[in-house]
Amino acid sequence: MLFLIEREIAKATPTLLQLGTKEKLLEFLTSEPESHTWLWTNKNGANVGYLTLIDKEEHGELEVLAIRILPGHQKSGYGKEMMAFAEKIAKKKGRAKVTLVTNIKNTIAIGFYKGLGYKVVKEIANYFGDGENRYLLVKEI
Ligand SMILES: CC(C)(COP(=O)(O)OP(=O)(O)OC[C@H]1O[C@@H](n2cnc3c(N)ncnc32)[C@H](O)[C@@H]1OP(=O)(O)O)[C@@H](O)C(=O)NCCC(=O)NCCS
Repeated sequence: MLFLIEREIAKATPTLLQLGTKEKLLEFLTSEPESHTWLWTNKNGANVGYLTLIDKEEHGELEVLAIRILPGHQKSGYGKEMMAFAEKIAKKKGRAKVTLVTNIKNTIAIGFYKGLGYKVVKEIANYFGDGENRYLLVKEI
């Protein structure tokens, strides 16, 4: 299910890290021990996307590794809902900030994060080894 969702979103969002197989997606989502993924559904029970968080206790932060909304459900508030959920978990765990990276060309995501109070702290060249540069964004909570 997650792979079908990822494939549809990645097709519509070429700036995303392209994970072409189920195995690559699984490896990406579980590369850190403290990672958890939530499949997100709406009130009618339809899948709208998924969210993966990594708790980095040693750094005092929670990382949003993946936030994905299916094209047909974007701009309906689900992304905002997921980020509020991530920040709630971060606070509950006593983390001081929420972090994430995004492709510097993903203008929709950058606008979305900035609207939620995230700040670009640096640009990292070839972050995932796919030749693309990513911004590191952070919000103190
Ligand atoms: C980026 C993404 C997670 C946003 O989720 P979403 O559910 O579409 O966003 P929301 O409906 O919660 O919108 C929240 C705010 O973001 C902004 N926004 C979201 N999509 C936008 C768009 N396409 N154009 C302009 N603004 C947009 C709006 O300002 C909105 O604010 P509002 O509530 O005042 O209208 C979603 O577009 C997505 O999954 N994209 C593909 C995958 C991706 O790029 N993920 C992030 C990679 S790091």
